[in-house]
Amino acid sequence: MANYDVIIIGAGPGGYVAAIRCAQLGLKVACVEGRDTLGGTCLNVGCIPSKAMLHASHMLHEAEHNFAKMGLKGKSPSVDFKQMLAYKDETVTGNTKGIEFLFKKNKVDWIKGWASIPAAGKVKVGDETHEAKNIIIASGSEPSSIPGVEIDEKTVVSSTGALELPKVPKKMVVIGAGVIGLELGSVYKRLGSEVQVIEFMDKVTPGMDGEVQKQFQKMLTKQGLEFIMGAAVQSVETGKTKAKVTYKLRKDDSEATVDADVVLVATGRRPYVDGLGLEALGVEMTERGQIKTDAHWATNVKGIYAIGDVITGPMLAHKAEDEGMACAEVIAGKHGHVNYGVIPGVIYTHPEVASVGATEEQLKDEGRAYKVGKFPFMGNARAKAVFAGDGFVKLLADKDTDRVLGCHIIGPGAGDLIHEICVAMEFGASAQDVALTCHAHPTFSEAVREAALACGDGAIHV
Ligand code: NAI
Repeated sequence: MANYDVIIIGAGPGGYVAAIRCAQLGLKVACVEGRDTLGGTCLNVGCIPSKAMLHASHMLHEAEHNFAKMGLKGKSPSVDFKQMLAYKDETVTGNTKGIEFLFKKNKVDWIKGWASIPAAGKVKVGDETHEAKNIIIASGSEPSSIPGVEIDEKTVVSSTGALELPKVPKKMVVIGAGVIGLELGSVYKRLGSEVQVIEFMDKVTPGMDGEVQKQFQKMLTKQGLEFIMGAAVQSVETGKTKAKVTYKLRKDDSEATVDADVVLVATGRRPYVDGLGLEALGVEMTERGQIKTDAHWATNVKGIYAIGDVITGPMLAHKAEDEGMACAEVIAGKHGHVNYGVIPGVIYTHPEVASVGATEEQLKDEGRAYKVGKFPFMGNARAKAVFAGDGFVKLLADKDTDRVLGCHIIGPGAGDLIHEICVAMEFGASAQDVALTCHAHPTFSEAVREAALACGDGAIHV
């Protein structure tokens, strides 16, 4: 069998990016992937297909709610769900084929099949064992359910099944008001389902800035999503076509049951390391089932590295990509680095929600003196013109030095706007640096500048 400098296990955003960077750095590299297509969860059953569904359902929402206001009259479009799924599948194929092209272009060998590691330096796929000086585990994650709830991908679905439903369900119950629950919950709400979200905590999207959480839940409620908060789901019973979801309210331990045609379980994901043989190899794991690595993504077994969802940190495609590039650089003898303090998080609902850096709650906990610059999209001309005046930009800066510490946006294009602040934070910028930068008019990005101005002598348009 061929000998490689590096074999990467898994061709998701972590693995395929690591493979391409290894090749660019002159290493002989192969990537093992058992799916029929490259791209992992993100491209096949995660980020990309869900964005297609979010886009399509948002277009419908615009037609139903805003077209007439702009003088675009006529019958609203009806939903051909089969065609919508076909559009989603086409989007996926276009992207997965794109990775195949990039592998060929960069001379990355795709070893097809599921890998195990019989010993350091060896990767077994089917009957063949390949040799590699270095192995990067990038095998990703899988949906994790909760006790009493079994996913059958028909009536009780994970995000994977939710992207393949035979029809738009009349009633959907979503367990978990995290990223997946709210993104897919809003897709089905816009497509006409009744959507009830049951969440254990008292706020949606745990870990996000408190003001954003509040505003986000308010906006989603206005869009018709119904929330049952502070409720722990106990069990889901499935009949032939329907399900009964039982939950317990944390405040008084009272139990209640709701019916659903489809139950979406969105209670988190867990690292996927099945069949790799890590226990026999003696690879150290954390208590949460993640692979333990040092600051250079090395495990305790020499020559074996791990990146992405299988290690600690947020389970985000872009975090995995950054680790993939940096790990490749470390293996090539360079200085790979990831700044974990500047990893944006985005929720692709409408409006989008985006954040980077510290939340106000975190700064309070740290006892750090900070200032807040906030600007509502209602004061942004462009946002108002496109019915997107709800939401705000909230910038947090150090009280004494004015250094930007975090930013939280809920509003139009938030997922793109946040990167201005990511760059600012990477350069150690102050809020004043952002405020003094000329921003084109009329753009949504002016709202970011106004929030920065609000950290100083004041925003103009509010
Ligand atoms: P999550 O961790 O974001 O949210 C899970 C929610 O379920 C939490 O709010 C939790 O309190 C709740 N929960 C747990 N047990 C419960 C119970 N028994 N009853 C009621 N509620 C319960 O997990 P999610 O949404 O499944 O996403 C998984 C991962 O995928 C996350 O790490 C997320 O960051 C990532 N992802 C990121 C996306 C993005 O960046 N746009 C899109 C989709 C997923």
